[in-house]
Order: sequence, then structure tokens, then C-alpha cells
Amino acid sequence: MGATVAFQFDRLFIGGEWVAPLDGGLRASIDPATGRSWGQVAYGGVQDIDRAVAAARAAFEGPWGRLAGWERAAMLRRFADLYATQVEALAQVESQDNGRAIRESRADIGLHPQYFHWFASLADKLDGRTIPLDDAVHAFTSRVPVGVVGAITPWNVPLMAATWKLGPALAAGCTVVLKPAEQTPASSLALAHLVEAAGLPPGVVNMVPGDGASAGARLATHPDVAKISFTGSGATAKTLLKTGADTLKRFTFELGGKAPHVIFADADLEQALNAATGSAWALCGQSCALGARVLVERPIYDQVVEAFRRTAGRVRVGAPLDPATHMGPQAHQQQLDKTLGYIEIGRDEGATLVAGGRRIETAELAAGYFVEPTVFADVTPSMRIAQEEIFGPVVAILPFDGEDEAVAIANDTSYGLAAGLWTSDVGRAHRVAARIQAGMVWVNTYRYIRWSTPYGGMKASGWGRENGVEALDPYLDTRTTIISTTGRFADPFAA
Ligand code: NAI
Ligand code: MG
Repeated sequence: MGATVAFQFDRLFIGGEWVAPLDGGLRASIDPATGRSWGQVAYGGVQDIDRAVAAARAAFEGPWGRLAGWERAAMLRRFADLYATQVEALAQVESQDNGRAIRESRADIGLHPQYFHWFASLADKLDGRTIPLDDAVHAFTSRVPVGVVGAITPWNVPLMAATWKLGPALAAGCTVVLKPAEQTPASSLALAHLVEAAGLPPGVVNMVPGDGASAGARLATHPDVAKISFTGSGATAKTLLKTGADTLKRFTFELGGKAPHVIFADADLEQALNAATGSAWALCGQSCALGARVLVERPIYDQVVEAFRRTAGRVRVGAPLDPATHMGPQAHQQQLDKTLGYIEIGRDEGATLVAGGRRIETAELAAGYFVEPTVFADVTPSMRIAQEEIFGPVVAILPFDGEDEAVAIANDTSYGLAAGLWTSDVGRAHRVAARIQAGMVWVNTYRYIRWSTPYGGMKASGWGRENGVEALDPYLDTRTTIISTTGRFADPFAA
């Protein structure tokens, strides 16, 4: 362990083998910092998904499905230990491919081994219940894996999304076909090299990058895929529900957000501003949990807007692999276009542009997809920039008066993923947190996300939870077994 694992990206990983695509091909993967190809990456089509599902099914019915929980746990721990030795290499690949600042990639990916360790620790604790009934029967439940899982991941945090799905799926005893987003497949293929090097049995994890409409849709229609675990847009989730209907797929969805970051006048303002500005521009704005709407109590509103304006000027935007860089480019051209489009919408709606607002066109950055850290003030709750997920480094600051209005504005979107509250009044913290419609509420902190804390959305932000023991539920079915203590069964047709 600890030896270098060589990564290659021009093959798919199916059934424990590195294979050329059958009906996909090789495609240039774009470095979003330069707009140019950095290498050729394999992507698969429908036939490749079909053979990956066949391999996953064979593994589920064969070696993996017959392992005891403690044996799966041991394999997951070995994988986690190997992953820990490769954090830097994985971070380099991910930042190269999706443009995330290397300092962020390192911090995020550095936590992943602990996710695998934590789910390993649950793999041999999937116990059921005994159900007291009467002397005639012994009734008990067992928790059994649902089968082959199709995992579909997005381009903003490919390895985090893969980790959040693989940890509980493998702990539960499922096997997986993972389809990373077409824009950023490289780090997931690197992960597959670790799967191989850690000695997971062939077919337990299969890695098939590919387009959503072909490879992704095939996962959702394939009769041998029991469940889809999806992270991405609400529009795709709705399509998946329809495509998966014929085979009655189970689904969990982690969809976007428009998280309110609520700052009361009694907050420790310095800390609140650190969190609110940090979460405005992390991942270049490309995360569902960022505080995209900052709600500020009116007495401190101007002060907060001014602080955002000043801090925008301190964000070092630049090459993702430069350790000094705070914020890299948008991950791909369509997201760049979407973000610039929303900046136009914000101007047209009459919000006040306080900072940023442009693509960066300095000599070194002009070819990449870089956008200035952008701040809109005087935003009203009904504006599209307050309602819709932009997924770029664009923050909307809205004023409010008092708790009731804070709660009303916070809940006034279709989303319900996350929220932040800043107040020094502990009673207010409880009162307001209890009224926020979000799967995750942080008080006097923000984006504190760990393996053991359930994460997921209310309302249009999704179905189900990832992380925490709850994350296992969608990968498990319950079997109820009732055994007669007498073996007698009365003749129903006796007189
Ligand atoms: P998307 O939902 O199209 O892509 C996510 C994944 O779904 C990718 O792997 C893609 O290949 C796959 N996919 C797409 N169409 C599919 C289909 N018909 N069947 C099966 N799989 C399919 O998201 P997109 O277009 O890349 O991003 C658009 C917006 O979605 C972003 O600007 C952002 O607002 C939101 N988003 C939210 C994410 C989150 O973390 N919740 C992640 C990515 C996007
Ligand atoms: Mg790329």
C-alpha cells in the first residue's frame, strides 16, 4: 500500500477488466481553465452499460453477494486505506478535469477515506428485529441488499458524489454501475483503478462514463438495475422517473438548492461573513449547498453588502492547480453560459450589481471559463436570481425585518436542501431552525458535512438521504420471515 497507482483514462472498467468501449468511443476531456483538451477519455454507450450491468449482476449473485458483512467491511477498509494514500493524486486529476481549486479538492477528497471507513463499520451491523407475536410462530426481519445499483453522478464534485453512493451501496451488499458526468469522467476512472488495486471482486464496481441521454438513460431502463442513486438537476430527475417507470425502479435524488444564509443583527458578524462569503464562491458557486441567497437583518444590511463587495476583491481567481488559487473556472462551457445568462437576468430584474458580473478576460484566463465573484444587492424574493439555481459564483443579498420575515423568505423557493443561521440568541436559533424547510440547517457554522450526518433535500431538492445510517435504507429491502413452531397447518376444507 502507498505505492503509486498509475491512472489511465482511455478504457472503461467493467467486470474487473479495462476494456475499450463497444458503442462509445474516445473523447477529448476539456480543461476548463484553458478550454483545451488535456487528454482522451473513454465513454461508453448502451451496449457498454448492458455488459457492465451483466457484470454487476454476476458479482451480486456470485462472490460479493455471498460474503459475510464483516468480509465486505474488511474489503471496504482496505479500499479506504488505499484511497487515503492517493488523495493528492486524485485531487490533481479532479482539479485538472473540472477546474476546482486544488486547495478545495485536497480538503474534500482528504475526507473521503473516512466515509468508506464509516460505512465499512456498518456493513456487519445490518441487523433486523424479532417481532413478538405468539407461541405459534417466530417472526423476524432481515435486511437484504436491493441488488444492482445504477449511480449517476454530476460534474461539480465527481469523487464526493461517487463516495457518497459507493460507501452505503457496498456496505449494504449491493453492486454498482457508476456513470460519471460526461464533462468530468477522469477522477471516477482513477477511482476505478483503486477499486482494482484494493482487490474488490470483479464486477462489484463498474465505471462507465457516458452521455446522460444514452448511457444514463439505459441504466434507468435496464431491467436488472434495481435502484438509481442520482445527483444532478431536477429536470433530469423528472426524466429519470419517467424512464424508470416501466421497470419500477427505486430512486434517490439529490437535486439542487437555493440555500438561504440568514444573518441576524445579533450575530457574530465577522464569523458570519467568513462563512457567507466563503460559501458564496466555493467550488466557483457550483454546489447545491452553497449559501446562494444571503438574507440580512435590515440594521446590518448595508454593512454586509459592503463586506461582500470588499471580499469579492480578495478572491484569487486563477489556475486550479495553483495552490494559491481560491476559485477556479466554471467546470464547462454550458455552465459558463448559464451563469453569464443569470447575471444578465439579475441586471434586467433591477438588482444592484455590487461586484463582479463579467467573464474574466485577462491574458492568462481569457481562454478558460472564468467568471468574477459576483454580488447582487437589493434583490427581492420573487426575482429569478433569488428563486432559481444559478450554480455560478453569484450571490444574491436580500434584506429582512425580524424572524417571521426571515423564515418566510427562506422558505419561499421550490428548493429545500440546506440553510444557515447566524445569531447569538440560542432561543432564536432553535425557533428559526425549526421553521426552516430544509434537510440540513447549520447554526453559527456552514457546510459542515460529514459521513455520519444525514444529508439531502426537502421539497424539490430531492428524495432520500445520503450519509448517516439513513443512507443505507435505500440500498436495503426488508424481508420478514415467519416460522411456525409447530409445523401444523389446518385443513381449510375440513367440515
Ligand atoms: P444533469 O442533471 O443533466 O447531469 C447530472 C448527471 O445526469 C450526469 O451524469 C448526466 O450525464 C446525467 N444525465 C443527464 N441526462 C440524463 C438522462 N436522461 N438519463 C440519465 N442520466 C442523465 O445536470 P447538468 O445539465 O449537467 O447541470 C444543469 C444544472 O443542474 C446545473 O447548472 C445545476 O443547477 C444543477 N446541478 C445540480 C447538481 C447537484 O449537486 N445537485 C449537480 C449538477 C447539476
Ligand atoms: Mg473535463
